[in-house]
Amino acid sequence: MDVTRRQLVAGTAAAGLVPSIAVAQAALITKPIPSSGEHLPVIGVGTARRYEAAPTEAERQPLRETLRRFQQLGGRVIDTAPSYGDAENVVGGLIAELGIRQNLFVATKVGADNKAEGAAQIAESFKKLRTDKIDLFSVHNLRDTANQLSNLRDLKAAGRIRYVGATTSFDGQYADFEAMMRRETLDVIQVDYALDNRGSADRILPLAQERRMAVWVNLPFGRSRLFQATQGKPLPDWAAEIDCKTWAQVFLKYVVSHPAVTCAVPGMAQARYVDDNLGAARGRMPDAALRRRMEQFIDSL
Ligand SMILES: NC(=O)c1ccc[n+]([C@@H]2O[C@H](COP(=O)([O-])OP(=O)(O)OC[C@H]3O[C@@H](n4cnc5c(N)ncnc54)[C@H](OP(=O)(O)O)[C@@H]3O)[C@@H](O)[C@H]2O)c1
Repeated sequence: MDVTRRQLVAGTAAAGLVPSIAVAQAALITKPIPSSGEHLPVIGVGTARRYEAAPTEAERQPLRETLRRFQQLGGRVIDTAPSYGDAENVVGGLIAELGIRQNLFVATKVGADNKAEGAAQIAESFKKLRTDKIDLFSVHNLRDTANQLSNLRDLKAAGRIRYVGATTSFDGQYADFEAMMRRETLDVIQVDYALDNRGSADRILPLAQERRMAVWVNLPFGRSRLFQATQGKPLPDWAAEIDCKTWAQVFLKYVVSHPAVTCAVPGMAQARYVDDNLGAARGRMPDAALRRRMEQFIDSL
């Protein structure tokens, strides 16, 4: 059953979620970046792996269709990095071809070992992404954090970067990442979090709330681990209570219904995944009790 806009507003208000009107379909749910109040749809596109090389038109075509469909449905957030092979260039080229830069919120990262190397890499990112302004620039995996944050803050002050952040996806970095979060002022952090990988919820997600940092979630499917764990299994009855028609929507709604999480950036390189995954940015969200049942379900597999 479709939810009405009124039901959607009532059902999402408790989690601090705000529905917004999206193009061509029902509202995509958004959440704010605490430092500015700017709202972003809760599902974005991650570009590691599948966007890393696309030298032929046959390889670019499905990626172009993915981004076209994403933007058509009201999606905005694109996450990339210079370490994802040629992904910045592939994504930048497709966005320019499609003429959709102004509709998107483009995020990339810097991963370098000193200030000069970082500055050079950052300059390359602007070129490859074919844009004068990058919405979010993050320090990748705590590499040379102090120098790179200094580079990024200079660019933010100059108006070339809108938000500054930092990312990790390794448990082994969590203690250092927490210390960095306590020390630094950041707009956004990005961390791994998934129904079967909940370690960041112990300390990092609550700390982000305390420090008023937006949280972007990487690896929301644990790469494809969650699909393998549930392959061939029917959706539990409770999936209908949160308007989920697929496992992908179940996994993503678990992630984005955490009160600290602003958005998730699942890797998607097929238009059909866009339709599926953006379904997790519509309809009802799990409350705390249902989130617990979801955890018990996955832990029992
Ligand atoms: N430290 C960091 O900053 C860091 C680290 C890791 C990742 N990231 C970011 O996080 C993003 C996400 O990570 P990820 O792509 O490695 O892992 P992921 O999002 O957990 O999994 C993505 C994979 O799930 C499958 N998938 C996606 N949508 C699906 C759907 N609706 N139905 C069935 N299968 C679906 C696809 O597999 P197939 O393509 O095989 O079908 C896709 O490649 C990255 O792209 C990157 O932007 C950042």
